[in-house]
Parts: sequence; C-alpha cells; structure tokens
Amino acid sequence: MDKCYEIFQGTAFTSHTSKEITILKDCLFCVNENGIIEKIVVPENEEYQLFLDKYQGRDNFHRLADGQYFLPGFVDLHVHAPQWAQSGTALDLPLHDWLNTYTFPLEAKYADLDFAATVYEDLVQTLLANGTTTALYFATVHKEASLLLAEICAKKGQRGLVGKVVMDDPEQNPDYYRDINTETALADTEEFILAVQELAKQVKQGVYPVVTPRFIPSCTTEALKGLGELAAKYDTHIQSHCSESDWEHEYVQNRFHKHDAFALHDFGLLGDKSVMAHCNFLDDDDAELFAKTGTAIGHCPLSNAYFANSVIPIARFRDKGIDIGLGTDISAGATPSLYDNAKQSVVSSRMLEDGVNNALPAEERGVPNSRITINEAFYFATAGGGESLSLPIGRIQENYTWDVQIIDTNVPSAKLPIFDPNEDLYDIFQKIMYNTRPENIREVWVQGEKVHSR
Ligand code: GUN
Ligand code: FE
Repeated sequence: MDKCYEIFQGTAFTSHTSKEITILKDCLFCVNENGIIEKIVVPENEEYQLFLDKYQGRDNFHRLADGQYFLPGFVDLHVHAPQWAQSGTALDLPLHDWLNTYTFPLEAKYADLDFAATVYEDLVQTLLANGTTTALYFATVHKEASLLLAEICAKKGQRGLVGKVVMDDPEQNPDYYRDINTETALADTEEFILAVQELAKQVKQGVYPVVTPRFIPSCTTEALKGLGELAAKYDTHIQSHCSESDWEHEYVQNRFHKHDAFALHDFGLLGDKSVMAHCNFLDDDDAELFAKTGTAIGHCPLSNAYFANSVIPIARFRDKGIDIGLGTDISAGATPSLYDNAKQSVVSSRMLEDGVNNALPAEERGVPNSRITINEAFYFATAGGGESLSLPIGRIQENYTWDVQIIDTNVPSAKLPIFDPNEDLYDIFQKIMYNTRPENIREVWVQGEKVHSR
C-alpha cells in the first residue's frame, strides 16, 4: 500500500461481460506511478479503513462528491482526424461521390502544418472533453501532418494510435491528393512508424503508429502487400475500411474475386492488432476469418446509416466471438461523442430486429435476435475497444490503466433526472449512458494523469 501514487474513492461502473455491468460501490482505487490500477479495495475489506486512515486528507487522495461516478474512458476505434473540419456538413452524397467532392479536397489541405495543428489540437481536446481517452486515428497521406497528430496526442495526454493514410493508386485517387507512387507510400509509412515509435519512448500513456491502407480501392496490390510486410516487421496495429458500401464491396469483388476480408488476409492485414471499420457486408465465412485471426470490427452505427444505408448485425458478430468496439467515424458520423454512437447502436439494432416497414405482417419484419442492450453498447465503447486493440484499457479493474471519466450528475446546467437519493445504481448507470453531455464530464484521466477538467 506504500506504492500508491494516487488514491480515488467513489462508485465505478465497468463491464463484467459484454452483457453485464459490475458496480463497484464506494471502493478505493489505488493507482501506481505508472498509471496502472494496482489494487481495488471494497468497503467490506479490513484494509479499507487502514487505507482511509493513511491517505485521507493528502494531496493524492481524491474523493468523489455526491452524485459523481467513475466510468472507464471511452475507446474510439475509428476517427478521421482531418475530417473534423467538415463534421456536420457534407452528408448528402453517397460514399464515392462524397470522397471526391468534399473529403479528398479537405484532406489535401493538411499539407499545411498550421492548418493541421489548428484542427488537430481542437479535435483531441474535444474528444477528451467527450470522455474519449484512446482514439484510433486516420490522419492523411502527409507524413509530417500525421506525425504532428501523434505529437498533439502525446502532449495533451490522450492515448493516440495514428495512421499515415496510404492511397497510391493513380487510377483511383486524384492527382492533387495521393501518395506520389507506391515506393514513396511505403517509404513514408516506414519513416512514420519509426518516428512515432521514437516519440512513444517519452509518452507515458503511449502513442502508436498504425499501418493504414485507406481501403482496398485506394491502394495498388504492391502497396497492400508492402503494408502487410511493414506491419509484420514493426509489429504495428493495422486499420482500414472493410466491406463498407455497395460500391466498395462490388469493386473488391470485381478486382480480387473475393470479399474484402479474404483479400486483406492475403496481404497480411488481418490479425490481433487489426481493426476494420464498418464491415457491413461480412458473411459467415468472413466473420469466421475475423474470429480466427483476432481481427476486430470498428462499429460505426451513425456513419453506417448515412454512408452504407446499413444496420450491421452486430449481435450476430458478437456471438461469433469477434472483438468489437465503437467508432464515431468522424465526419461520416457527425458527432465527436461515443455516447451518441452507443445510443445509436442500440437504436439501430432495435430497428434491425423489429423492422421498419409496418406494411408487412409482423412475422415478416426484421431479423430476430438482433437487438443489443445499453450494457453491450457500453461494453463496445470501453472494454470491447480495449480488447480490439489488445491493450489493457477500457475496464476499471486491477492491472488495467487508470483511464476514467468522472461523471457529475448534479451539474446545474445539465442535471440528470435523478430524484431519489437512494436510487438503484444500475438505473443511475443507464441514465448516465443516455443523458451525459460534455458538461457532465467533470474530469478525464489517462494513465493516472488528469488530462481534462471543467
Ligand atoms: N472509405 C474510404 N475512405 C473513407 C472515409 O474517409 N470515410 C468513410 N466512412 N469511408 C471511407
Ligand atoms: Fe471511415
């Protein structure tokens, strides 16, 4: 107990299984100097009073006020950092036209490091203020601006996993926004990996380079192969878009005569540290390949509604044992909040199950067993995200990092509807998941360091 660096006292919610919540009522959380939860002491434990006698009143003792609760920090598995500058706009076109009309012209601007710094500083701060303690980012094709994003995460205390995007096929990408050729795409990626791994040596919470083919259509076959080799050589995370839209799914089918999952696997791009966004068109064979290789799904329910016209059968994939986390997919998903996406994942699953066409007889509507609960959505936003990245994050549990959001249900401008001082704690958890706004997120901690407060 002498090793405690910070001690926190209060009630915490964390996932037990994907379907069940553990409530840690009025516990003591002992965090060591590495930012790891070393010990959790429950009030029934005889050590509890000894800890209180020793630490209460000291600077490193933090007791939550009435109406405040700990939640694990959220893990956002899919963010396009440059697209923050257009979030909320450009939602009127299908994916292919959207990329060419709005998104590629915007991303091209990140050759300008001043512009990149302005947007990236604001985005990282905004995500922290929304409770996101870890984010898996797509940057742009620019090596320097991508490194800048990693440096901003490092400085602001967020755990950032950052990819320099590869788009090297001159047939598929505009001349004003692509890698110059395959050779430079791979060389820039390798230099980027080495630079981020060097930066990581000084960053307590970790920053990580991510091998990032934008999606199969944007890359030559040589680039896809080379990226798989780089990921293996440097043992990096990998991210891409997989089976997202009709157009993209059909393109891959025509080019490789197989689904995205098997094509990506051929290039060494699936595995324990791979996260594939969307995955709307996975069939049972694809899903089995994901489960077998440990590849995770970055589930982006809001973006899927706009750009894939799709509700992914997430309950089916979970039952197959695939790791699943949630992603905002900024800006195809027009919110920086994983609370919004957690709610949307529940809503979308209900629509899939119950059907939306009331003209059909009840028995012909929807897909049975599709619904998920708010507990599962919370799990995807926290522990599921951690498992997807193979990092010890997303749970308030011994040997996990102290990445937490302190939720204040009593903020005058954003009071949660709690009227009974003895309200059931599980009801409070649900109210937090459905009603929390940034005003309620009083403090955010990453790896034992306070990185946001209001
Ligand atoms: N597929 C390729 N690029 C993108 C992107 O930026 N956003 C989404 N949603 N899908 C993509
Ligand atoms: Fe995306």
